[in-house]
Amino acid sequence: MTTKYGFYYKEGYDDPLCIDQTSVKQFIERLSSPPTPFLLYSFEQFRHNIDTYQQELKNLAPIRSRLSYSMKANYNPHLLPILKSAKVMLTTVSGGEMQLALSNGFEPSSIIYNGNGKTDESIEMAIDAGVLLNVDSLFDLEIILEYARQLNKIANVLIRVNPNLSDTNVHAYNITASKTSKFGTNIDELEPIYNLIEENHDKWIRLYGFHCHLGSTISNTQIITECVQKLIPLFDIKRFPHLRLLNIGGGLNIDYKRYAQRTKNDKNDDIKIPTIEDYIQSIKEPLQLLPNTIELIVEPGRSLIANSCILITRVLGQKSTGSIQQLVVDASMTECIRPALYQAYHHIDTINSLSTDERIPFDVVGPVCESGDFLGKQRCLPNTLKRGDFLAIFDVGAYCSSMSSNYNMRPRPAEYTLDEHEHIKVLKKRETNEDLLRSFYVE
Ligand SMILES: Cc1ncc(COP(=O)(O)O)c(C=O)c1O
Repeated sequence: MTTKYGFYYKEGYDDPLCIDQTSVKQFIERLSSPPTPFLLYSFEQFRHNIDTYQQELKNLAPIRSRLSYSMKANYNPHLLPILKSAKVMLTTVSGGEMQLALSNGFEPSSIIYNGNGKTDESIEMAIDAGVLLNVDSLFDLEIILEYARQLNKIANVLIRVNPNLSDTNVHAYNITASKTSKFGTNIDELEPIYNLIEENHDKWIRLYGFHCHLGSTISNTQIITECVQKLIPLFDIKRFPHLRLLNIGGGLNIDYKRYAQRTKNDKNDDIKIPTIEDYIQSIKEPLQLLPNTIELIVEPGRSLIANSCILITRVLGQKSTGSIQQLVVDASMTECIRPALYQAYHHIDTINSLSTDERIPFDVVGPVCESGDFLGKQRCLPNTLKRGDFLAIFDVGAYCSSMSSNYNMRPRPAEYTLDEHEHIKVLKKRETNEDLLRSFYVE
């Protein structure tokens, strides 16, 4: 019998929503009246996602490849030991993330620091520690060189190339490689960067490779294929003999609507979500042209962590406004901003069966004083839902905790998981009102 992991519904049971081997309802009972909302992680699911990527990457052999987790998706430090023991690299986008990676014992050569606007302190930290830096622009390179000279060290860099490709199914805010994007340097305008690197090569800088990131929630693997095809000719090893890394930025989407049939919410079948296997297959052929000294790095964030976490919320009440039935819950845009920010879909459902109750369409909204504060529109949920009932908001592992805020002076929620003995483990304490005020008072 295969052991189930992650979040799934065991149909026919009174408490059908499970995390790994435990019912979510039992988990809540064990916490005894926990303040809501809170986040619940399945580390089993996270480990499985890492393993799936690593197994698929093996299919690229003889091309060597590595996985790099994009920490911006979720920087909960309790994820790091899992990544470290699986020998996953880390892609960081701030001095804070880089410092967290270094202090958790990740080798500097396993950390990539990326950003279109890096602070002086973070550049200094990266060069001093020997972290790989993605050069975003000419000005970025100039500052990196300045610090390398000051520190009398060599900066190890990749160039972030904008290949001018974008997936038309992606929300405008998630596009990163269109011609006018703020990230990277256009593929046709690299010569000034090459020249400056050449002038300082082996003295203050070494060019190790190229990075590109096509955007987040990518569903079109064809553009990933095209991207690799565009980047391979850049590997001019005669000109830059240290070149050995091709780093293609994450972006793979996940099927946020996979439970939608359950609640009879329309499933949008127009967009086929590529699997990790589809993704790896899409780059296999173009990679054959890569010199065999080059190693591939893929750096997903969302598709590693998103489905490993749910947000538990309580219903506060129902009310009708014109033709809309509103279901007001205690979670909001401060814990899950993606619907408000990108009109993103997160599945919302009950944790217990209530399956015989009639379902009607609700707008599921939070209590934040902002009209844009909603979690889902026209979601079919039981018409019997009342104050205190629990709901789960699915796939909140990526870009929810890391994008959370204290807007409306709301404390950030607690985060939990179950350890291998099914004991509750606190991954983050719920903030208190005092926590929120502490930094306003200078001693
Ligand atoms: C440089 C870089 N790499 C990787 C990622 C991960 O993208 P995703 O979480 O969609 O996989 C991001 C996120 O936008 C990024 O900026």
